[in-house]
Amino acid sequence: MAGLTKYQGSFETYLKQTVSVGSPAGLYLPIQYLLELGGKRLRPVLVLMAAEAFGNQKKEALPAALAVEIFHNFTLMHDDIMDEAPLRRGAATVHQKWNLNTAILSGDAMMIQAYQALESYKAPLFDKLTRLLSKTAIEVCEGQQYDLDFESEQEVSQEQYLEMIRLKTAVLVGCALKMGAWIGGAQDHQAQLIFDFGELLGTAFQIQDDYLDAFGDPASFGKQLGGDIIENKKTILYHQAMSKGSQEEQRNLKKWFTSQTDPAEAAQKIEALKTLFETTGAREASRNLVGHYTQIAFEKLESLTISEQGKTLFKAFGTHLMERKF
Ligand code: IPE
Ligand code: IPE
Ligand code: MG
Ligand code: MG
Ligand code: MG
Repeated sequence: MAGLTKYQGSFETYLKQTVSVGSPAGLYLPIQYLLELGGKRLRPVLVLMAAEAFGNQKKEALPAALAVEIFHNFTLMHDDIMDEAPLRRGAATVHQKWNLNTAILSGDAMMIQAYQALESYKAPLFDKLTRLLSKTAIEVCEGQQYDLDFESEQEVSQEQYLEMIRLKTAVLVGCALKMGAWIGGAQDHQAQLIFDFGELLGTAFQIQDDYLDAFGDPASFGKQLGGDIIENKKTILYHQAMSKGSQEEQRNLKKWFTSQTDPAEAAQKIEALKTLFETTGAREASRNLVGHYTQIAFEKLESLTISEQGKTLFKAFGTHLMERKF
């Protein structure tokens, strides 16, 4: 998406200027490592896009964009410990490349750096941004805890799953847009509307993340394929398979999802579950749900008082997300 490159470019330049390795290197090097592995930079781009859509304040939005991206990377560093993930963005995760203590402490430091990035804003904007980041951060923790709890809980409904992904993923997407909107001068009501758009888009985004975890292309995915299956994550694929499968398929699914994965049998488990996701129709239904949530996100855009050009850009962004391979 051509429009995206412009925002990514200005964010990347700003990031390079601000992130440096201080002492002790054992604390700061892993931070720089993860941040410089790249990633899609979706959240900072959304901060910049929203600021521009409401008031052409792209430059003023750069520190908030940085805050959101550093915060996101902090959650990834700790998420990879929790999910026992070996790979991130096509490279070794921080706890694998260094060790557990490093990933814990460098992650903690990143969360603090996220707040520090907001220090250049003056009151009352500063207050609004920090309060929103705190509210979002605690919700992400809640979502992450549900995600872990659900690994070993037998009866998890799709409704509970949707609430879990709203918390762990969608609210940060909404937060990015709301911060940008405020910096661009939007009134609270409009800022809330764009938050709602982001929350729906973020829901579509996590459903697709779940889909790609099983059905992504190893050449482009950048994470361990089948990682969710190994960890018994009750992703959208699981919920759809449980609701669509025959009684025997449901029994089979439950059996796989209640047994701890023996590393020697991981590949076999992944294959068996991918087949079940396919034959139950869960694969296709999950893809359709990505489209569904993206569509209702687009409907939210209609009530925003931004230019048609701005709305078109957000729609192009949403469409681009649906086509992503990683
Ligand atoms: C990964 O986020 C974590 C989720 C919420 C699914 P991204 O897919 O945006 O990760 P990067 O930043 O592009 O690597
Ligand atoms: C990530 O969910 C949510 C957060 C990091 C808060 P996942 O565990 O699915 O993200 P990936 O797949 O590891 O990127
Ligand atoms: Mg993970
Ligand atoms: Mg996780
Ligand atoms: Mg995932």
